[in-house]
Amino acid sequence: MAADARVGSGPTDLRQPYDTVSRTFHWLVVALVLLQLALALVLPSVLPKSAEDTITAWHLATGSTILLVMLLRLGWRLTHPMPPAPTDLPAALRLLARGTHWAFYFVLILLPLLGWMAANAYGTTPRLLGLIPLPSLLAPDQAVAETIGGVHKNVAMLLLVLIALHVSGALYHALVKRDGVIRRMLPG
Ligand code: HEM
Ligand code: HEM
Repeated sequence: MAADARVGSGPTDLRQPYDTVSRTFHWLVVALVLLQLALALVLPSVLPKSAEDTITAWHLATGSTILLVMLLRLGWRLTHPMPPAPTDLPAALRLLARGTHWAFYFVLILLPLLGWMAANAYGTTPRLLGLIPLPSLLAPDQAVAETIGGVHKNVAMLLLVLIALHVSGALYHALVKRDGVIRRMLPG
């Protein structure tokens, strides 16, 4: 990665924080994802899913906002240097942490795209930020909608696994290693 400063050996200087934009993106996405998962828990199970329904409309609006924010975040990530990753961890853990970070980018773009396709196949038009109607990716088809909806749900379960791994890693740094990694991502 051209803009990735995570190279070198020896102890890393962990005082260098993530830049303000990266930290804002991080916590904005955390808030949106938590809201989105809460909305998903109370989504009506009755088919077809319709944007007339308030909870579904919120799920589509928040999800499409996550897509927009993640694309902007990825653009920022690829064009700006990030602080170096901690080097005093076993190689396997470093790989796991890095893999989890990139998997977040992948899943948080794929998941909204699948949701968008499912919504179209259910005959619904998602609105970006709840306002701007998104173009249709698929024609209405109940069977296709249920299949893509099922994949969407499974990918959301994968997201939960990533969150569990990532938060365990963050707590390990905060409570066991006490090495300042958390501080780099906190506001202020
Ligand atoms: C990070 C973003 C997202 C997360 C974490 C997420 C999560 C979920 C989960 C867990 C479900 C399953 C609910 C259940 O059946 O119990 C679901 C269903 C659904 N989501 Fe999302 N979603 C996201 C984005 C989107 C977006 C952007 C759209 C549309 C624009 C969308 C449309 C749908 C639809 C239509 C269903 C119903 C699928 C079906 O039952 O066949 N989602 N979502
Ligand atoms: C929905 C939940 C979350 C998502 C999707 C998420 C996503 C991410 C991503 C993608 C990165 C990599 C940043 C980059 O290099 O571009 C990251 C880093 C980080 N996250 Fe999260 N995060 C979540 C929750 C949390 C929570 C709850 C904490 C704290 C308890 C946390 C603490 C951190 C820290 C400290 C880093 C920097 C790690 C390092 O310096 O190597 N994250 N997060």
